[in-house]
Amino acid sequence: MLTDRHILLVVSGSIAAYKALELVRLLRKAGATVTAILTAGGARFVTREALAGLTGQRVHDDLWAAEAEIGHIRLARLPDLVLVAPASADLLARMAQGLADDLATTVLLATRAPVLVAPAMNPAMWEHPATRDNMARLAARGVRVVGPGVGAMAEPESGPGRLAEPEEILAAVAALLAPPAAPPAAPSVERALNQPLAGRHALVTAGPTHEPIDPVRYIANRSSGRQGYAIAAALAALGARVTLVSGPTALPDPPGLVTCRIESAREMLAACEAALPAEIAVMAAAVADWRVARAAGQKMKKEPGAGAPVLEMALNPDILATIARHAMRPRLVIGFAAETEQVVAHAIEKRRRKGCDWIVANDVSGEVMGGARNTVHIVTAEGVEDWPELPKDEVATRLAARIAARLGGADRAARP
Ligand code: C5P
Repeated sequence: MLTDRHILLVVSGSIAAYKALELVRLLRKAGATVTAILTAGGARFVTREALAGLTGQRVHDDLWAAEAEIGHIRLARLPDLVLVAPASADLLARMAQGLADDLATTVLLATRAPVLVAPAMNPAMWEHPATRDNMARLAARGVRVVGPGVGAMAEPESGPGRLAEPEEILAAVAALLAPPAAPPAAPSVERALNQPLAGRHALVTAGPTHEPIDPVRYIANRSSGRQGYAIAAALAALGARVTLVSGPTALPDPPGLVTCRIESAREMLAACEAALPAEIAVMAAAVADWRVARAAGQKMKKEPGAGAPVLEMALNPDILATIARHAMRPRLVIGFAAETEQVVAHAIEKRRRKGCDWIVANDVSGEVMGGARNTVHIVTAEGVEDWPELPKDEVATRLAARIAARLGGADRAARP
């Protein structure tokens, strides 16, 4: 997944810095070369020896020593991506100000590579207006963010500020470094007419998510991914640059767009946030509402006479609601509502609750999940449209045409 990719990992001062070690292991397993910079704060929590051992490379921690060996400009030009994980409140503040008072900030100022930060701090620090301002400034400059999550912290306190899990950070890195979709063909009048979404970026989610119980077992659902894949292909056919974030499916990657494969809901959210900015978001994935709170690190054993295990569940993030309220919210956010009763009434309520623009509602009491046909209702601020039963490809073509019409492009693909 990351073969031949070079990641420069900056580890700053947070109790979560120990997770950077697992992150290095995952990045290298995915094929990346990892060079680490350890800040003075970071060195309070992990040792340079541990990082050197796991990266297989010398760790840089001193501006002036690095200057003598490689030079901060060369260090800044090496990577395909600079990943700051964990990113402390202090380091984010220094980045926002453009300081260059240690090796990490100097390299961050000198690099032209994309920068991804994974913040980790106490919830009060994360919610402080100073940190909010710093994050807004960094986002405006194109810095990407993964996490932080909400959950138990080192202190007896809970809230946003917890470092994203290493698997989520890996998914965000992979999404950022995914090869760009094939460049559009040479412009022509015909192309401009048939490709009303040319130049626009669309994010599409599809498929189920797999929530691990242990390394060999997971919780999943019956989603095949067909409707979401068809929508991604239909948007690409109208000229959009499409990022498809897909859970595990049996479908091949659709040609002409970027497919980012993830497993869990938290990885899907990280990949979606990393794919922003986008003008269109179509969230067709059947995301698991819950995950196992603490997946076992080893295969759970069936002990004679011990009875069945009880799984404690935790709530997954709502990806659609998060994207619909994101600082980089796409212009048009579309959700799906799979219902087995009161389909339209539930969809109207869902549109409001999730903060999206349209809901595509369907009755899944029949053979829809995994099947080839679908009957949908399009719920918008203006009202409800009932579409006839159609093949999923046709639902996708019509939806893409309606999206193009809404965004003001020539709507040549619309059917009468
Ligand atoms: O709440 P419900 O699962 O019915 O909402 C369905 C819509 O919300 C779909 O668009 C689905 O992709 C999205 N969703 C999500 N994250 C979740 C649950 C649902 O993005 N955790």
